[in-house]
Amino acid sequence: MEKETKRFPEGFLWGGATAANQLEGAYNEDKKGLNLADVLPGGKVRLEIISNPGFDFEIDESKYYYPNHEAIDFYHRYKEDIALFAEMGFKSFRLSIAWSRIYPNGDEMTPNEKGLEFYDKVFDELHKYGIEPVVTISHYETPLHLIKEYGGWRNRKLIELFERYATTLFKRYKDKVKYWMTFNEINGATHLPILGLGFSPKNEDVRLQESFQGLHHQFVASALAVKAGHEIIPDSKIGCMLIFAPVYSIDANPENVMHALREEQVFNYLCGDVQVRGEYPAFSKRYFRENGIKLDIHDGDLELIKQYPVDYIGFSYYMSRTEKKHKTEEEIGAGNLIGGVKNPFLKASEWGWEIDPIGLRISLNQLYNRYKVPLFIVENGLGAIDKIEEDGSINDDYRINYLREHIKAMAEAIDDGVDLIGFTSWGCIDLVSASTGEMSKRYGYIYVDKHDDGSGTLERRRKKSFYWYKDVISTNGETL
Ligand code: BG6
Repeated sequence: MEKETKRFPEGFLWGGATAANQLEGAYNEDKKGLNLADVLPGGKVRLEIISNPGFDFEIDESKYYYPNHEAIDFYHRYKEDIALFAEMGFKSFRLSIAWSRIYPNGDEMTPNEKGLEFYDKVFDELHKYGIEPVVTISHYETPLHLIKEYGGWRNRKLIELFERYATTLFKRYKDKVKYWMTFNEINGATHLPILGLGFSPKNEDVRLQESFQGLHHQFVASALAVKAGHEIIPDSKIGCMLIFAPVYSIDANPENVMHALREEQVFNYLCGDVQVRGEYPAFSKRYFRENGIKLDIHDGDLELIKQYPVDYIGFSYYMSRTEKKHKTEEEIGAGNLIGGVKNPFLKASEWGWEIDPIGLRISLNQLYNRYKVPLFIVENGLGAIDKIEEDGSINDDYRINYLREHIKAMAEAIDDGVDLIGFTSWGCIDLVSASTGEMSKRYGYIYVDKHDDGSGTLERRRKKSFYWYKDVISTNGETL
């Protein structure tokens, strides 16, 4: 009886997720222009660069190695890779389109046919196996020209350039793609503006002002994309994409609880409120005032945002966050990638990301109860170091355990009444890490022979989790 109620719905979109810049490679082929990821070096230095102001967005091969240039060469190997996804039984595959393949500089009037053709081929290959493409229109890969000449999303001009790009995609792929998302992890922008907004603030004093202005431009651009998408593809589903991490208070001290609540409102909900409910939330007024943020909002912007909310929420879930109002020196920076303090009840991954499957059930409940729109987990997974045994096998039980616990949490949330439509785990095939540019931080069911220094044959190999996930999908989540 218990089993009955915890079943995943029929047609549940099991699959995997990727982003163009992290797997395609071929960074300068077929007239592709450079984008943000092409100028980000590999290794721990990357995180330093994306966190610090004043990055120059230049390539210097005498100093750095650029892992996204070749990545895992999906551009030439997509057939082999999609066949492996099909072998696992994928129902969906999340990928992004590299804006600079379609508009190399981002501001041309006509698109690059070669770029459009590439994604035609990828979508056709997916459909051959009955795999539903789920497309992120912008995933940390703003064209470099828009960064250098326009100052990234600080500049309002990007709204119309994005609208042109998105409209081109909707027209071209109207018969091939139904599920879209506008901006990857849109709410991550205030932490690391360089990734989502394509600029590096001059100093800390302007970070919030510039980030929220950039976000406002993206809200308008996203609303215009929803408008165009629904007109061109009437049965399309266009989502926002959030990075979601429930915020816990370190204890029951109301001061800490209030602090955690405010962090949660601003980080987790502000963007969702605008994109799903169609308006800036009540708390934002005070938050903007207290932080000296003054938004330049043009006539008609708020009406557009109201009129064209998204259809569903896609979100990534990797960790929760624990907050405390007054942190000691040692506590600052001791938490996760996205801040907070250490949670004494949780273990962390080798990269310090705290593992919290119950946090996923909490997130699903919080999001669904607040917004009442379908939810889609479009990223989740464990970045870990894998070892190839002498017999060639890769026994990634740690990854299987991680995913099993998170899938159980999803089943619980479905039983709680949440409308969850799919799960695409992150990096279903090993790819370049976004935050560190490392290959050794592996998420895949499929191992790729490529290493942090760029060496490797690029050969693909099935890990133990490959066979496990295949069973999960074929039994629609009954076998874990
Ligand atoms: C998400 C991004 O933040 O996390 C992905 O949308 C990224 O692009 C993923 O790869 C995992 O992060 P990382 O730094 O381990 O690659």
